[in-house]
Amino acid sequence: MQINTEDLEEIHQTAQEMVKGASFAGMDHVERVAQIAEQIGREEGADLDVLRAAAYLHDIAVPLDKARHYDLGGRLARGLLRDRGWAEEQIEPVVHAIEAHSRYGGPEPQTLEARILQDADAVEYVGAVGLARAIVRSFEAGEYRGNVAELPTLVDRLIARVEGSLHTARGRELVAERIAWLRQFQARLQAELAGEV
Ligand SMILES: [Fe+2]
Ligand SMILES: [Fe+2]
Repeated sequence: MQINTEDLEEIHQTAQEMVKGASFAGMDHVERVAQIAEQIGREEGADLDVLRAAAYLHDIAVPLDKARHYDLGGRLARGLLRDRGWAEEQIEPVVHAIEAHSRYGGPEPQTLEARILQDADAVEYVGAVGLARAIVRSFEAGEYRGNVAELPTLVDRLIARVEGSLHTARGRELVAERIAWLRQFQARLQAELAGEV
C-alpha cells in the first residue's frame, strides 16, 4: 500500500499528541517499536507503510484505557484514517495490526504486518528497556512498590509473557538476546542482595 510521506508524518504527529503523558508507552516507545518493526518488516518483505502507520498508532489509546487500549486504539485509528480519506481496504490492515498487537488481549495476529508489530512490541518488553518500562508499569499499577528484592519475580513474569510468543526469526533472535541480558541482571541483583559482591 502506498501512503504518502505527508500522511505518515501527520499520523506520527497525531500519535505524539495522543500518547503524551503515557509514561511507559510514550512516543519514545512508539518510535522504537516503529524502528524495530521496520527492521523486521524489511527482512520479511512486509508492507512497510501499513507497518509504520500501525506502529505509530498502536498505543494511542493507552492514556484513555490502558487495559483494553488495543480495542479502543483500533477503533480510534479507524475513525482517524477515515477522516483522512483512506479507503476501507487501506484502513483494515492497519486496524487489525493495532487490535492484535498486545499480549494482554485482542485477536491473534492474522497478517504478516500484525505478526511483526506484535514481535516488535515484544522486543520492547524485555532487555534493559523492557525492565525500565516494566518497573514504571508495575509501579503505576500498584503491583510493585520499590522493594528491589521483588524484581527477580517481576523479571520472571516479563520473560514468561514473551517467551514462545514470537512469530519471526529476527523477533525471536532480538528477544532471546534481551532475555539473556535480563537473566544476567537477575543473577547480579541476587548476588548483590545476598552480599556476595
Ligand atoms: Fe500496547
Ligand atoms: Fe506498545
